[in-house]
Amino acid sequence: MNKKYKKVNPNSYFIKNSTNFLTTTVGKIILTFALIFSVSSFAQDLDLVQGKALFNANCAACHKLDKKMTGPALRGVQDRLLKDEGLDKEWMYSWIRNSASLIKSGDDYSNKIYAEYNGSAMTAFPQLSDSEIDNILAYTAQEKAIPVVNTVQAVPANGNSSSGISNEIILGAFAFVFLLLALGLFLVNKTLRSFAVQSNIELPKTNKSSRKPLWKAFVDNQFLMLCSAILMLLVSAYFVYGFLMQIGVNQGYEPVQPIHYSHKIHAGDNEIDCKYCHSSARVSKHSGIPSLNVCMNCHKTIYEYNGETTEEYSKEFYDGEIQKLYKAVGWDDEEQEYTGETQAVKWVRIHNLPDFAYFNHAQHVSVAGIECQTCHGPVEEMEIMYQYSPLTMGWCINCHRETNVKVKDNQYYEKIHEQLSQKYGVDKLTAAQMGGLECGKCHY
Ligand code: HEC
Ligand code: HEC
Ligand code: HEC
Ligand code: HEC
Ligand code: HEC
Ligand code: HEC
Repeated sequence: MNKKYKKVNPNSYFIKNSTNFLTTTVGKIILTFALIFSVSSFAQDLDLVQGKALFNANCAACHKLDKKMTGPALRGVQDRLLKDEGLDKEWMYSWIRNSASLIKSGDDYSNKIYAEYNGSAMTAFPQLSDSEIDNILAYTAQEKAIPVVNTVQAVPANGNSSSGISNEIILGAFAFVFLLLALGLFLVNKTLRSFAVQSNIELPKTNKSSRKPLWKAFVDNQFLMLCSAILMLLVSAYFVYGFLMQIGVNQGYEPVQPIHYSHKIHAGDNEIDCKYCHSSARVSKHSGIPSLNVCMNCHKTIYEYNGETTEEYSKEFYDGEIQKLYKAVGWDDEEQEYTGETQAVKWVRIHNLPDFAYFNHAQHVSVAGIECQTCHGPVEEMEIMYQYSPLTMGWCINCHRETNVKVKDNQYYEKIHEQLSQKYGVDKLTAAQMGGLECGKCHY
C-alpha cells in the first residue's frame, strides 16, 4: 500500500486531492473495492431486516423459527427442502405465493406436508416478489442467536429496604459512639494516673481482694439502680410501641408468588395497560387478579422469553415460569392444545384492608381519576410486586385532605361545589370537604 494513504486522514485527503485521487489507478481500485464492499454489506443487512419484518408481518402468526405451531418450524427451511426433499427454488416461490394451487396440481411433497398438518391451509401471498421471499428465507436461514446475559444486578424491588438500612446505620453509629466513649474514659484515667504519679499523690491501693465485686457495688448504689431501671423501662416501652404500630401495616410486603410474574416485563417493557388485566378496577370495588385465560390470550404464542435478563433472572428461569403457566392451565405446547388437566394458581394477596374498612377502586380510579401509581407506586418497574403505600387510616385521610375533587365536566359535583363554596368560600374542593373524613364513609 502507498504510504501516503496510510498516514493521512483519508477523508481530508480525499477532499483536498479528490481529482488527483480519482485519477490514480490505485485510487480507482480502492474506490471500486470500497463501493462493492459497502453495497454488498448494505444489501445483506437490508435482506435480514426486511426479511424479519416481512416474516413477522406475514408468517409469524402461524410459524415460529424453532418450534412447530400451526405450521412447521421454519429455521433453515430452504436448506431442508432443497437438500433433503430435492425441491427447487421455484417450488419455494410457488408454495409461498399460493400453496393451495400447488397442492391441487398434485405435487407430491405439497400433498404430503398438507396431510401432515391435517389439511390446515396456509395463506396465499401472491403479492410477495421473488426478492422479498428471498429476504424472508434469508432471515429464516440465520443461526439461532445465543441470548446475551446482562450482568447488571437486579435492583431489589423492596419498599422496605431503605428503613432496614437506616436501622442498621443507627445501631452501628451507637456502637461506634460507645466505643469512642470507652476509649476516652480509658485515656483520661491513664493520664490522671500518670499526673498523680508525677506530682507524688498517693493513690488508693487497687488491691484486688479488698475491691467489692462490680455487681455488689452496683446494687449498693441506689442512684445508679434508679437510673438503670428508668432507662430499661423507656427502652422496652419504645420497642413495644414500635411493635404495636407495625401490626397490620404491611408496607413493602413482597411475598413469593406461585408463578414469578413480573410487572416490570409486562406493564413496563411491553407497556401492557394495567386495565387489560385488572379490568374491574374501573367499574367495581375490587380490582381483581386476572384469570389465567387472560394470560393465554398472549401466551399461546409467547412460549419463551427473549427480553433483558440478569444473573438472578436468566432466560431459563423465565422460560421455566412460562412452563408453570402452561402446566397450570393445562396447555400442551408441543401439540398446541389444551389437555384439560388444570391446577389452580393461588396468588398470594398483597394488599389487604381490614374488613371494617371500605375502599372502592371505581370511586378513586374512574370518578376521581387517580392514577394507579399514586397509590401502588412505580408498578411498571417492579420485578416483584410489593405494597408501596402504608394503607393506614392516616394515609387515606391525608390524601382526602390534600386532593382536590375533579369537578369539571361533572354536573353532580358542580352543584355541590357551588353550595360548598358559598358555605366555606373555597375555590377548590377537597375530598375531605365533600365528606371524605366522615367515619361512616369508610367504616361500615
Ligand atoms: C395461516 C397460517 C399460515 C401462514 C400465515 C403462513 N403459513 Fe406457511 N404453512 C402453514 C401450514 C399449516 C403449513 C403446513 C402445510 C399445510 O398444511 O398447508 C405451512 C407450510 C409452510 C412451508 C413448508 C414447510 C415445510 O417444512 O415443508 C413453508 C416454506 C412456509 N409455510 C412458509 C411460509 C411463509 C414464508 C409464510 C409467510 C410469508 C407463511 N408460510 C405463512 C401455515 C401458514
Ligand atoms: C398481564 C397482566 C397484568 C398487567 C398488565 C398488570 N398486572 Fe397487576 N397483577 C397481575 C397479576 C397476575 C398479579 C398477581 C401476582 C402478583 O402479585 O405479582 C397482579 C398483582 C397486582 C397488584 C397486587 C395485588 C394484591 O395482591 O394486592 C397490584 C397492586 C397490581 N397488580 C397493580 C397493577 C398496575 C398498577 C398495573 C399497571 C401499571 C398492573 N398491575 C398491570 C397481572 C397484571
Ligand atoms: C398482552 C399480552 C400478555 C398477557 C395478557 C400476559 N403476558 Fe406474560 N408476557 C408477555 C410478553 C410480551 C412477555 C415478554 C416476552 C419477551 O420479552 O420475550 C411475557 C413474559 C411472561 C413471563 C416471563 C417473564 C416473567 O414475567 O416472569 C411469564 C412468567 C409470564 N409472561 C406470565 C404471564 C402470566 C401469569 C400472565 C397472566 C396473569 C401473563 N403473562 C399475561 C405478554 C403477555
Ligand atoms: C386511591 C388509591 C388507589 C388507587 C388509585 C388504586 N388502588 Fe388498587 N388498591 C388500593 C387499596 C387501598 C387496595 C386494598 C383494597 C382492599 O384490601 O380491599 C388496593 C388493592 C388492589 C389490588 C388487589 C385486589 C383488590 O382489588 O383488592 C389490585 C390488583 C389493585 N389494587 C390494582 C389497581 C389498579 C390496576 C389500579 C389503577 C387502575 C389501582 N389499583 C388504583 C388503593 C388504590
Ligand atoms: C391519592 C389520594 C387518595 C387516597 C390515598 C385515598 N383516597 Fe379516597 N378519595 C380520594 C378522592 C379524590 C375522592 C373523591 C372522589 C370523588 O370525586 O368522589 C375520594 C373518595 C373516597 C370515598 C367516597 C367519599 C364520599 O364523599 O363519598 C371513600 C369512601 C374513600 N375515598 C375511601 C378511601 C379509603 C378507605 C382510603 C384508604 C384505604 C382512601 N380513600 C385513600 C382520594 C384518595
Ligand atoms: C378515608 C377513610 C376513613 C375515614 C374517613 C375514617 N377511617 Fe378509620 N380507618 C380507615 C382505614 C383504612 C383503617 C384501617 C387501617 C389499618 O388497617 O391500619 C381504619 C382504622 C380505624 C380504626 C382501627 C384502629 C387503627 O388505626 O387501625 C379505628 C378505631 C377507626 N378507624 C376509627 C375511625 C373513626 C372514629 C373515624 C371518624 C372520625 C374514622 N375511623 C374515619 C379509614 C378511614
